[in-house]
Amino acid sequence: MKKIIERKLDSLQSGELSIEDVLLDKIASKDFHQLLCKRIFRYGEAYYSSDQPEVSDAEYDDLFQALLSFEQSNPKLDTSDSPTQRVGSAPLDSFKSVKHRLPMLSLNNAFQQQDLNDFDRRVKEYLDSSEGLVYACEPKLDGVALSLLYKSGELSIAATRGDGAVGEDVTENAKTILTVPLNLNSNNKGLPDLLEVRGEVVMPLKGFQSYNRRAIEKDGKAFANPRNAAAGSLRQLDSRETAKRPLHFYAYSIGYTKGGATPDSHYDTLRWLEELGFSIEANIAVAKSIEDCWAYQAKLTQLRDKLDYEIDGIVFKVNDFAQQKQVGMITRAPRWAIAYKFPAQEKSTTLLGVDWQVGRTGAVTPVAKLDPVFVGGVTISNASLHNIDEINRLDVRIGDTVLVKRAGDVIPQIVGVLIAKRGKNTNSLTIPKKCPVCTQDLEKIEGEAALRCVAGFNCQAQLKEAIKHFASRKAMDIDGLGDKIVEQLVDEQLISSVADLYHLRVEQLACLERLAEKSATNLVNAIENSKQTELSRFVYSLGIREVGEATARNLALHFGSLEAIASASIETLIEVQDVGEIVAQHIQQFFSNDLNNKTVEQLIAVGLQWQDRDPVAVVAQGELPLTGQIWVVTGKLESLSRDEAKAKLQSLGAKVSGSVSKKTTCLLAGEAAGSKLSKARELGVKVIDEEIFRREFLH
Ligand code: IVH
Repeated sequence: MKKIIERKLDSLQSGELSIEDVLLDKIASKDFHQLLCKRIFRYGEAYYSSDQPEVSDAEYDDLFQALLSFEQSNPKLDTSDSPTQRVGSAPLDSFKSVKHRLPMLSLNNAFQQQDLNDFDRRVKEYLDSSEGLVYACEPKLDGVALSLLYKSGELSIAATRGDGAVGEDVTENAKTILTVPLNLNSNNKGLPDLLEVRGEVVMPLKGFQSYNRRAIEKDGKAFANPRNAAAGSLRQLDSRETAKRPLHFYAYSIGYTKGGATPDSHYDTLRWLEELGFSIEANIAVAKSIEDCWAYQAKLTQLRDKLDYEIDGIVFKVNDFAQQKQVGMITRAPRWAIAYKFPAQEKSTTLLGVDWQVGRTGAVTPVAKLDPVFVGGVTISNASLHNIDEINRLDVRIGDTVLVKRAGDVIPQIVGVLIAKRGKNTNSLTIPKKCPVCTQDLEKIEGEAALRCVAGFNCQAQLKEAIKHFASRKAMDIDGLGDKIVEQLVDEQLISSVADLYHLRVEQLACLERLAEKSATNLVNAIENSKQTELSRFVYSLGIREVGEATARNLALHFGSLEAIASASIETLIEVQDVGEIVAQHIQQFFSNDLNNKTVEQLIAVGLQWQDRDPVAVVAQGELPLTGQIWVVTGKLESLSRDEAKAKLQSLGAKVSGSVSKKTTCLLAGEAAGSKLSKARELGVKVIDEEIFRREFLH
């Protein structure tokens, strides 16, 4: 059942199915709802907590809308844990937590004029009288929310939104942003004793482009878009690093206040905040009717490309605070505001040529080379053409005028060809027969759209991509090993596998372009430090096809050791969350390849190590380290009593039983352990002594 639902969800996400289709279908609505919620939570987590979105904003928004419709059509569902009731996700451990005095809400979305009209109708239904109803209109800034708490006019705490209830304390970082006033203009009498100002931190486009240029020169890593750049910069543990980032704070509301006097409307509040020293977005306006709001939308859409920061929509808010109060809110978002989201942007340009690129897994994909065109705030000169099927579907030729679309932060795509504009000098694309990098014959695998080079690590392109992946942040996290350096290392034949990285010497690295002796030393140290890792990271870093970070975590958690994963049968592999038949086959294939096994052995031989029970995977799953395990304690312990040991084990999630059986996970055996120890030995149950127990669990 789960698999069927997951497949339906995939189709929903890709747009093959609409939520209406799903609703027509007789489906187990509780299970469907749960799995949809889970998916949205996962994407939300990736977006909010790790600044690494897994899907485009548009895809996320669509899924969220689908969930809302599904819940509306199934009013009996328990939605208390649904993402529709929450905003974002819990903060990371590394920053102190800050409880928001008033929750930081989210906004409901509108995508077309009708949605705005519906919003207007609802607002009027809740108001005693719609006389004097005015909407404040303002750009929806595409950055990251920040809450600033001022005590007697002095900045005291800055916090991120986190899950809306609890955020992260980023005071030191916020203080480095020039547009965050440290002290409010004091000639304002009646300033509240406590004043919370909320707004958005953005990275302006020019700053973003130059920051990325420098970052690419330095280590080949760049931010995908200004929003990721702003979020990543604000959440640096070292505020000196944040200080180097070009960030700007725009205030858009006040939150909690105590004492003093504050204005009665949103628009006046923004003007007041401006007087206090805040930067306010320049295009804020008020509208007397929803029709005027729509006209504002048309004006701002025109202006969008000229702004020096990204906006992804327009926020309309009931202007008067007393009226806002009457209209009220629902759990997740105010009823008095709505965010109109811009449709994905499209522009036309000329297709100059097609490059065939070889990816990490050997897939050879066509990349369109375009006459540079400015779409949604960035210049685009490359776009994805996906695969041969897509090329055929579009019937695209070199020299054609093509439509390029950029939706959120996804790679720009070619979505159509303006056939009417086709001139005489267009050429059909030639589909390569050999790998453009290693010249091996390409294969088109049954049922797969991609062309594939099956040379594996013998193909330099795949080797380079595999090493880049291995070194990347979520894999082995080798700081300083950027793409450009990896390419040089392979080109200069200094390495021919990931294991070779661990034999690199400073003198070898210092010969490379862009690497001075000091950076070379740092890099060797970073490589050395990466040896102590976690099982989930290691599995992810191997680059097994379709094994992403989350699947690697699930595998680590389920099997507990690399040996167990490598030797698992298809049947046991598909018991793991998110692992289907195909992923299971990829895993088996990976571990039945001699070259892969040799590389894994070499990595272990050079000293890579991890604890079998991966603490990262365990915490990420929200489980305790020993959840699902059954322990038995016997014999006399020295440093603690048996009851204390039991309590400790239980606090870690284990069940503690009185007798040893086949189901026992582990026996903790003290001095003079008797029959339980012999029984455990007989049944092959793992036994540990007090010393190991202390080392592993009592630090
Ligand atoms: S008002 C209840 N105004 O959009 C009011 N939010 O989906 C909530 N955002 O995380 C916020 N520009 O950070 C508001 N002019 C604006 C905004 C804005 C961007 C962000 C905000 C929030 C998200 C809401």
